[in-house]
Amino acid sequence: MSERSDKHTPREAAARGPLLLSTWSFGERANAAVWPEFASGGSALDAVEAVTVFCDEDPGIDSVGYGGLPDRDGQMSLDGCVMLSPEQCGSVCAVRKHLHPVRIARLVMDRTPHVMLAGEGADDFANEHGLPEQPLLSPDAKKAWEKHQAEGKDESADVRPVDGDPGGALFGDDEERWRNNHDTIGVLGLDEQGVLAGACSTSGMPWKVPGRVGDSPIIGHGLYVDPQGGAAVATGTGELVMAICGSFLAVERMRSGAMPEDAIREVLERIASRSDLQVNHQVALIAIRPDGHWSAGALRPGFRLAFSDGSGHHTMDPAFVQLPGT
Ligand code: GLY
Repeated sequence: MSERSDKHTPREAAARGPLLLSTWSFGERANAAVWPEFASGGSALDAVEAVTVFCDEDPGIDSVGYGGLPDRDGQMSLDGCVMLSPEQCGSVCAVRKHLHPVRIARLVMDRTPHVMLAGEGADDFANEHGLPEQPLLSPDAKKAWEKHQAEGKDESADVRPVDGDPGGALFGDDEERWRNNHDTIGVLGLDEQGVLAGACSTSGMPWKVPGRVGDSPIIGHGLYVDPQGGAAVATGTGELVMAICGSFLAVERMRSGAMPEDAIREVLERIASRSDLQVNHQVALIAIRPDGHWSAGALRPGFRLAFSDGSGHHTMDPAFVQLPGT
């Protein structure tokens, strides 16, 4: 299917679309599936939505959609958002009956004067717009929850998210090379018309307290897109991103002239300077300027990203890790 390469480094040379950037190596499959339509003149908005829908349906991804892990009580709830600009964004959280939060979020954006719908209201709204109710808890996720219950594990002992692709040169050690868990799918697209769009979809933190919502569906936290400044998307421990409006901060820095890598560095420096950082915490960001310059960075080893452009579909390391060896 797709070409794999580690030779590419995050791009600091200007380019136009089409370009797709997705968090984690599983994003490569999704990018590749969506690419033919996108590359034939499709919009960035359609492409980012389609990437998240693809990941929602993959039972092998344990942090998004159908494969996602449930909350403390074994119940699934999904969050997501989509954004073109501060005037055009939509979001849903705590969805319990519909598999594609970004699809609902786009309807919120397009058909209501609101930005965000939550819980039962979001599910009812999806029903009103003809989206089908679907089971959200996969048999494997149910088994994982039962195992977690039986072992009576303390959540703080859980390991941080590490990419399932063992090729990462910036991984900390051999053990984490073979771990296979991830986090939110966040995707940014730049189309041939130069339009930027972004989307996030997640099942949230595994074993979360029921009702917990993280950064992914919150505009400015998990995702921000501003045609004047650029776009940024975050993945990892939502609480850390929410504390500093991470994606908004990265875009604001780019609006003031920063290159994407420097903008991401500032976000991760602020997070790294927190005194309550836990060993299982991870945050990674991808950022792109309207002119196509883009980069990615991670707080800790173990993050990979996927990008697709005219040269093919690739999985790669971020430009830097803020706290190497942790
Ligand atoms: N970044 C996903 C979450 O914390 O829910």
